[in-house]
Amino acid sequence: MKIIYHGHACFELEADGHRIIIDPFINGNTHTKVKVEDIKVEAVLITHAHGDHFGDAIQIAKNNNAPIIGVYEVVSYAMSQGVSGSPQHIGGAHEYPFGRVKLTIAHHGSHLEGVGELGNPCGFLVTMGGKTVYHAGDTGLFYDMKLIGEMNNIDAALLPIGDNFTMGIDDAVKAAEFLQPKVAIPMHYNTWDIISADPEEFVRKVEEKGIKGIVIPVDGEIEI
Ligand code: NI
Ligand code: MN
Repeated sequence: MKIIYHGHACFELEADGHRIIIDPFINGNTHTKVKVEDIKVEAVLITHAHGDHFGDAIQIAKNNNAPIIGVYEVVSYAMSQGVSGSPQHIGGAHEYPFGRVKLTIAHHGSHLEGVGELGNPCGFLVTMGGKTVYHAGDTGLFYDMKLIGEMNNIDAALLPIGDNFTMGIDDAVKAAEFLQPKVAIPMHYNTWDIISADPEEFVRKVEEKGIKGIVIPVDGEIEI
């Protein structure tokens, strides 16, 4: 599987000729060079309704005739805007042509500016091409990550490290210890000053715990 990072919490996952995007915050994300019209995906996954995650989801879904996947409340709103959707909810998994998506808890909010509260935020366990990626969404540290790690063979964990709105570095290191992924990848940092964090510090600390850490540069990619 190929993991492509567009900064903040936005990743594209590609395996077996299938490609999806998670939390497509492109416009307003000053770090990525990618253009919304260049995104070619078959599904758009959204962890929660905050603008830095919902982002350009509607436009990307329209451009690609791709469904929006997330919690019922977020997906219902998206469908009211004229795109297709596949509502799920926390704890539930669904098989799609590209792979399997299971929703996990996340401790955070899910308010969309000008619209209102759109249910609970979530994280995703995405299995494609025999690899499982855990995208934590925006969340604080929670002990059930240990359970998620015990019940899933996680190849890559995408963990927020920027603090203030989510886990900071030390909590994200503890999250990695709970999850025991083959590789831990930092996200949700340095987009704005208030979430500035050194991803190399995260890598150093996670490797002290025996877990491989990789910083994917913005618009860079790795193969897992
Ligand atoms: Ni958020
Ligand atoms: Mn966020």
